[in-house]
Amino acid sequence: MFPVIKLVSETLPERYNPSIFNYFYETFPKGFLVAEQYHKIAGVLVSVMLNENIAKILMISVTPEHRRKKIATHLLTQLMKRLAQKNIKQVELEVRTDNQSAFNFYQKQGFTTLRRLEHFYQNGEDAYSMRKSL
Ligand SMILES: CC(C)(COP(=O)(O)OP(=O)(O)OC[C@H]1O[C@@H](n2cnc3c(N)ncnc32)[C@H](O)[C@@H]1OP(=O)(O)O)[C@@H](O)C(=O)NCCC(=O)NCCS
Repeated sequence: MFPVIKLVSETLPERYNPSIFNYFYETFPKGFLVAEQYHKIAGVLVSVMLNENIAKILMISVTPEHRRKKIATHLLTQLMKRLAQKNIKQVELEVRTDNQSAFNFYQKQGFTTLRRLEHFYQNGEDAYSMRKSL
């Protein structure tokens, strides 16, 4: 779990209590995906179930040296396959309005923007709420 926590803390602005990662893994192991290259972590995707029909992506991150090589695309594709097997109908997420790379990424993967959430983050930043149906 340490490489996941390290990657997230180095690439995302949110500060997470390290123990939360074990909690996420234990509550929804199929939604906790790690990409490796040459036995080193290259990316991670963490999601949870909101209810029996809806999953939520909490975070996705790829190490800077592995970006633009479709690692996040691969992680998301794997998640979608797993969710489809569980008959889940919808995936939701929030993304910072100034996170152009993540916003572009999710748009390219077929997510649509539902609304802008004002002051969604602790530092007052806004989010876009996005959704994709399976
Ligand atoms: C967003 C992120 C996960 C994308 O990972 P990635 O593995 O580089 O993404 P992919 O290679 O699968 O990209 C697929 C497509 O998404 C879009 N995209 C990805 N990164 C982009 C960027 N920096 N700028 C513009 N579009 C981008 C492109 O359309 C890309 O296709 P292309 O390379 O053929 O143009 C990565 O940039 C990252 O880890 N960012 C920091 C963490 C973060 O902000 N996470 C999201 C909030 S939780």
